[in-house]
Amino acid sequence: MAGGPRGRSYLLARAREIDSRLVLALDMHPGGPAGSERGSALEWARGLLSSLTDYVVAVKIGLPTLMFLGVEGVSRLVRSCPDYFYIADMKIADIGYIARLLGRIACDAGFDAVIAHAIVGREDGLCELVDEMHGRGGCVFSVVAMSHRGAEEVLNRNFEDLLRVSVESGVDGFILPATMPRYIAMARERVGRSAIILSPGVVKQGAAVGSAVRAGADFEIIGRGIYASGDPVSSAKRYASVLRWSA
Ligand code: XMP
Repeated sequence: MAGGPRGRSYLLARAREIDSRLVLALDMHPGGPAGSERGSALEWARGLLSSLTDYVVAVKIGLPTLMFLGVEGVSRLVRSCPDYFYIADMKIADIGYIARLLGRIACDAGFDAVIAHAIVGREDGLCELVDEMHGRGGCVFSVVAMSHRGAEEVLNRNFEDLLRVSVESGVDGFILPATMPRYIAMARERVGRSAIILSPGVVKQGAAVGSAVRAGADFEIIGRGIYASGDPVSSAKRYASVLRWSA
């Protein structure tokens, strides 16, 4: 990790090695399971991550955790548990210049990949971020459809264009909703095996564990179903046994 982001080959190799398709969404906030004090929350997260290395391939860290622990705190967390593939879920939706800056900050903090919205378009938008991340050896995953009901009002109606923009920009893969598996199946049919599909919406948002992979996803992203379950290790172990890479 000291050498910068590791690309998709590391993600896939780790999935094969631990035989899992499970990605942890780590969304921490003051008053959550880790408490409200930043130092002890960081220790809690360190304990959590070090207990899940046999079951979890990658860790997706979003804005709640970045704002609670700070980029410096998250960076320390990432560097203290270096086996995981780390995804910064910043849902970047900005002009290329700013997207590049955010990508650079994520890489410097120890992340291997970022999540960005495809809605910004390719030119001076998503392709700039892809260029920045690929130049550093990292990855970009784009949001092509979302899992909540409101996504059907605007975003998901543009699925075809968002997929096209993503492919033309050269992203490494897509974020597609487990709650609406038809989008996963359509994307897989259009792009074949070339892209990595990661799917949130499992457990707490209602999709069954394994359902997104059956529709064509490579990985399922689970947050509260693990870290807020009371027994994260046995929850992750149970989910990983359904989400075997080799199955
Ligand atoms: P839970 O606790 O519900 O966490 O398992 C879900 C995680 O996934 C993110 N999420 C999404 N991200 N497109 C995205 O890019 C989506 O449709 C979507 N749905 C959920 C959420 O931010 C959380 O980290």
